[in-house]
Amino acid sequence: MDQEDQKKAVAKAVLEYIPENSIIGVGTGSTVNYFIENLATLKHQIEGTVASSLATEARLKALGIPVFDLNTVPAPVLYIDSADHYNALRQLVKGKGGAFTREKILAAASQQFICIVDESKETAVFGESPIPVEVIPMARSFVGREIVKLNGDPVYRIHTLTDNGNIILDVHNWSITEPIKLEKALNNISGVVANGLFADNPATLLLIGTKAGIKKIS
Ligand code: A5P
Repeated sequence: MDQEDQKKAVAKAVLEYIPENSIIGVGTGSTVNYFIENLATLKHQIEGTVASSLATEARLKALGIPVFDLNTVPAPVLYIDSADHYNALRQLVKGKGGAFTREKILAAASQQFICIVDESKETAVFGESPIPVEVIPMARSFVGREIVKLNGDPVYRIHTLTDNGNIILDVHNWSITEPIKLEKALNNISGVVANGLFADNPATLLLIGTKAGIKKIS
């Protein structure tokens, strides 16, 4: 199985975790797009979804899957999303697609978070690829300087505004041995909305598409 087939396999395997009549939080990205196609086959068995991005909302609606505002429904039973990297502790790096703030809100607001990934995303030490940070536009330079004090190298993601109207700094050159500590330090900078480290509140269950089939870490 190549990487694309692993994504498809894991996007199918997660279907058995979806309870009937439930509200499901739905993440963003190419793996989740396969999941959304599968979810359409179950749309009459669930109550509906909450979307983590405008792109996901549009895909769900195009397939006739109901989408609710998070403020109008009880806590979703389950949040299903992918990630850019994962480790054995179910901690994640997310945000290459720029939707991580709403993704983090849904991961926190839902009773459980199942992360669906392919095995290429396994990483022992985070930081090899940049960590995204969503920032209020007027705080961009200040936040950049604060990140430099934390030994990171922030790069402004050009031509990008998040669904929340903010900018993204991608932070390079970190070798992250204490992801929870760094996640909190970033959150503590005024002007930071959220960051792409999902370490303090990791996934409840990781479903990993591998060459040998689906692997679970719970
Ligand atoms: C979106 O903001 C990200 O957090 C995605 O979850 C992540 O980039 C995974 O996307 P792919 O499934 O396309 O790899």
